[in-house]
Amino acid sequence: MIYVVIPAGGSGTRLWPLSRAGHPKFLHPFTGTSASLLQATVQRAAPLTTPERTMVVTGAAHAAAVARQLTGLPEENILVEPSPRDSCAAIALAAAVIAVRDPDAVMGSFAADHLIGDPQRWVATVREAVRGAEQGLLMTVGITPTRPETGYGYLQTGEPVGDGPMRPVVEFKEKPTAEVAEAYLRSGRYLWNGGMFVWRVSAFLAELARQQPALHTGVTAIAAAWGSDEQDDVLGAVWPTLPKISVDYAVMEGAASAGRVATVPGDFRWNDVGDFHTLGEVLPANADGNVLLGGDAKAEVLLHDSSGMVVVPQSGRLVAGVGVRDLIVVDTPDALLVCPRDRAQDVKAIVDELKARG
Ligand code: GDD
Ligand code: MG
Repeated sequence: MIYVVIPAGGSGTRLWPLSRAGHPKFLHPFTGTSASLLQATVQRAAPLTTPERTMVVTGAAHAAAVARQLTGLPEENILVEPSPRDSCAAIALAAAVIAVRDPDAVMGSFAADHLIGDPQRWVATVREAVRGAEQGLLMTVGITPTRPETGYGYLQTGEPVGDGPMRPVVEFKEKPTAEVAEAYLRSGRYLWNGGMFVWRVSAFLAELARQQPALHTGVTAIAAAWGSDEQDDVLGAVWPTLPKISVDYAVMEGAASAGRVATVPGDFRWNDVGDFHTLGEVLPANADGNVLLGGDAKAEVLLHDSSGMVVVPQSGRLVAGVGVRDLIVVDTPDALLVCPRDRAQDVKAIVDELKARG
């Protein structure tokens, strides 16, 4: 039985104004059901583990909301970080806490912000990855790329070893430039990194010690105090000193170069719900080809002679459209976004500008 760790941080800037620093995307029901992305992630992993072995690492600002959404988890399994230090610190903290309890444990780290269409196949894929992890490898789940996306990591795979689906990863390149991503796609030799990792905590912590000694020393000190009276003091003193870096840059790129990474390709309708256009592609559209998102969306949206719309009514008032096509309309109490679907990536620019204004 593996440990399941879900790092849940970041704010999902391309989903503004729905996803905010105070209410990030993993807390939203982007699943087309009433479950949030985080709840769906925990449910999906349930066949692999127990609630006692399921942990979420999240920021102090979101801890209460996370606990409200995940009433089935023991309270102490929500690890609260004082401030965001990116995914490596979050995942490493969980790995170090697990290692104190169970040094031989295998853990899976699964991003909180994905939609997965076929959860059963996902579970079967993770089980394959567990086999590689038991051999000491840092395992990733690979996704067949469909576009030269620059927001993902890329895995260059080598020849398969053995009969199973596992393939060595000879290069891990996080967030390449557009030209490089295009070349990768053309070569046919790359998979996307699905943001899901499976490894023995000991193997991961050894790589962390080799590549990120400060992070390793820091999380080891915090884990040693975890659950004791000193926990908050140690966490408060050490956490702000940890390098702010994602696990992909911090550990995976270097581990792949050292021949310690392998992948299991996954085919389970994976989607990183990064922007409203993607959301519109993943969620079911109505007969007119419009995607209406949100609890009781249908009662709050009236579209006449319109198609290809993604409408998110969250203000309580009626959203109406006549003769409009392929637009994103997100109506919240304090901000309204209108944007063509093919400019969904650029919503980030608004958030950047708001930040710059302070
Ligand atoms: N607790 C905590 N604290 N969690 C964090 C933090 C943090 O400071 N920063 C990020 N996370 C969590 C996110 O909530 C998500 O579950 C996971 O770590 C990955 O972070 P993202 O910020 O979503 O990363 P990304 O989407 O840019 O890239 C990652 O995922 C891609 C696939 O979706 C990488 O692993 C890429 O290689 C991968 O292709
Ligand atoms: Mg992501």
